[in-house]
Amino acid sequence: MTDSWRGYGKKTLGVALIGSGFMGTVHTRAYKALPLTFPDAVLPDVRVVADATDELAQSAARRWEIPAWTSDWHSLLDDDSIDIIDICAPPNLHREIGLAAAAAGKHVYCEKPLGVNTGETADLREAVHQHQVASFVGFNYRWAPATIFAQKLIAEGKIGAVRNFRGAFNSDWAAAADVPWAWRFARNIAGHGALGDVGSHVFDMARFLVGEISDVVGYTRQVVFERPLVGANGEITTTREVDNDDEWAALVRFEGGATGLLEGSRVATGSKTRFAFEVTGSIGSLRWDFERMNELEVYLPQQDGALDGFTRVLMGNPHPFQGVFVPQAGIGIGFLETKVLEIKAFLEGISAGEAAAPTFDDGLAVAQLLDRVVASNPTQ
Ligand SMILES: NC(=O)c1ccc[n+]([C@@H]2O[C@H](COP(=O)([O-])OP(=O)(O)OC[C@H]3O[C@@H](n4cnc5c(N)ncnc54)[C@H](O)[C@@H]3O)[C@@H](O)[C@H]2O)c1
Repeated sequence: MTDSWRGYGKKTLGVALIGSGFMGTVHTRAYKALPLTFPDAVLPDVRVVADATDELAQSAARRWEIPAWTSDWHSLLDDDSIDIIDICAPPNLHREIGLAAAAAGKHVYCEKPLGVNTGETADLREAVHQHQVASFVGFNYRWAPATIFAQKLIAEGKIGAVRNFRGAFNSDWAAAADVPWAWRFARNIAGHGALGDVGSHVFDMARFLVGEISDVVGYTRQVVFERPLVGANGEITTTREVDNDDEWAALVRFEGGATGLLEGSRVATGSKTRFAFEVTGSIGSLRWDFERMNELEVYLPQQDGALDGFTRVLMGNPHPFQGVFVPQAGIGIGFLETKVLEIKAFLEGISAGEAAAPTFDDGLAVAQLLDRVVASNPTQ
């Protein structure tokens, strides 16, 4: 890239944040933590927060000490102090905001899933290529130190040729039928259900660790078909239809020949954020579970058969980035730190003139795989 690339060589980049819900909060905390953790990194300057109403936007600006707010994200497009549009709004808004941001020459950081379907995701990818801006997807689990380390071990051939990947993201936030209706239960707002929400992370992890996937068959299943609708005053007088999946599973084959079994659920009673993988290689194997994200289980054969087995390795100074956050193994880090590392990589890429991964190319590859799960679903 050349000097014409927005933000090239800059040490501080202007950010506009759209959406002040769960992810808007997490991104803000990560923006604030970045200079505290990496003082020499390319740093964000969050200049404006946008939300759907004046009240929401103003409240976020006040709480997070962001100097400006707006209830009309279009007003951010002409602001030359903004280099990055950070989209933390629901998926049905990603395409419209992302296309406008790219056309305005802004780099685009978007939460997953990129759009409500593959067509929208393809439009977003096309726009960032056409306008030559950086794109980045919030597949943050690939930034856990243990998963970066696992990827490194696999790439270096430490476990030999990968034979099999198993990945599951099971949670139970929607297991009870009386969990109120929300946008995640609507296909026209969220797109797929658990498949898009947690499945996008599982497919991203599979591609990150093992490589491209060539074959996919799977199923999706809906378990709860309507949910209580909470009124403006907190009263429940009716229900609203749910029209996307609650759980899914897929059998895959990777281009390198490995096979895989992937699954996810939002109704997996008892599981909270159980995003776990197991990678089996010809020499060794690796296991990880986000609920114990500071540990990687490593199997490498021992000469003494009596000691043969998985070793629980606590992430610490020898592992990627962990030692920057905490001084010694056993002092855990969490979800927030994955976002700090994600944002660090995105900003550094922009300043260096080279978009860091995962880009919208990765987002589109994942969206296409999710669609292939649905297309092979015998009940659809
Ligand atoms: N990477 C992850 O681990 C992760 C986790 C949770 C959510 N997400 C993704 O983040 C995105 C947001 O999810 P969330 O949980 O933060 O949702 P949320 O409902 O908590 O927040 C969405 C925010 O967008 C705002 N919004 C709605 N319409 C708007 C408009 N027209 N202009 C500006 N703001 C508007 C809402 O008022 C709300 O503040 C989704 O794509 C979701 O899938 C990612």
